[in-house]
Amino acid sequence: MEDNRMINPELEDVEEERLENSLRPKTLNEYIGQDKVKESMKIYIEAAKKRGEPLDHVLLYGPPGLGKTTLSNIISNEMNSNIKITSGPAIEKPGDLAALLTNLSEFDVLFIDEIHRLHKTVEEILYPALEDYTLDIIIGKGPSARSIRLDLPKFTLIGATTKAGSLTTPLRDRFGIVNRLELYNPEQLELIVKRSSTILGVTIDNKASKEIARRSRGTPRIANRILKRVRDYASVLGDGTITLEIAKIALNKLEIDELGLDEIDRKMLETIILKYKGGPVGVETLAATIGEEVDTIEDVYEPYLMQIGFLSRTPRGRIAMIDSYKHLGIPYEQK
Ligand code: ADE
Repeated sequence: MEDNRMINPELEDVEEERLENSLRPKTLNEYIGQDKVKESMKIYIEAAKKRGEPLDHVLLYGPPGLGKTTLSNIISNEMNSNIKITSGPAIEKPGDLAALLTNLSEFDVLFIDEIHRLHKTVEEILYPALEDYTLDIIIGKGPSARSIRLDLPKFTLIGATTKAGSLTTPLRDRFGIVNRLELYNPEQLELIVKRSSTILGVTIDNKASKEIARRSRGTPRIANRILKRVRDYASVLGDGTITLEIAKIALNKLEIDELGLDEIDRKMLETIILKYKGGPVGVETLAATIGEEVDTIEDVYEPYLMQIGFLSRTPRGRIAMIDSYKHLGIPYEQK
């Protein structure tokens, strides 16, 4: 139910994935934003290629919808290698991971999304694979069981997670390259909206792309999703051109406010302010009060609310900041 909301950056369906694929940049030069990550990745990729070695293992972390999968595809593309894509929860048993690893070719990229959700038993197989490209497998059971060691092709693991803090230390330590993806600024999102419009073959006014960018809460996936809906309004209400007026109509219908907040953001802030006197309130209590999951609050809602200065995370709990009172039209009382 709740997952159908516009601003939840989790991928929703096959159609959306197809659209996202068509909009995905294929090279680092085409990729907009994340400048620090791009610059360092360019160096590491070039150096690895010069040495004729695989790229070191890469960890990408940050809120959902910022381009971790896109970036992984680009990295493998720039390394001229193949990529195999899977996710932590999809690898159920050590044997599943062993099958994946033994099917890789030299220099392939293995992309594991949600890597913080790997089972412990699977994770342990990964350590020697990452460290010295070997696989220890146990054959048989009981006293006659024995372990054999297989050599694996030299590969690069790219792990992605929204929760870097949930990775175990031994796993985190095995990534030579660790990149944090940041929320995009409105100027970068505007460029992304324009680029996507061109690919989709729709004309968009500058003011309309600015408006969409401003209301996409720092997230390209949300910007592209809004663009798709606005395009529908433009084709039904107008001649197909996306104007500011049409963009505003669509955004209002989608219940995305001037700053990109939706119902849940507002409910969260109102709850902190009205029920908990502005906070601090613990995230579990907050989640239970508004009927959301803690993970959703932490990964989807809080990063943007913190970025725009509406919310603060403290050791004693969440606090609503003065700007959020203003936005919601609630008088602020100095404590
Ligand atoms: N589409 C989605 N994310 C993008 C990015 N970072 N650069 C260009 N196009 C994108």
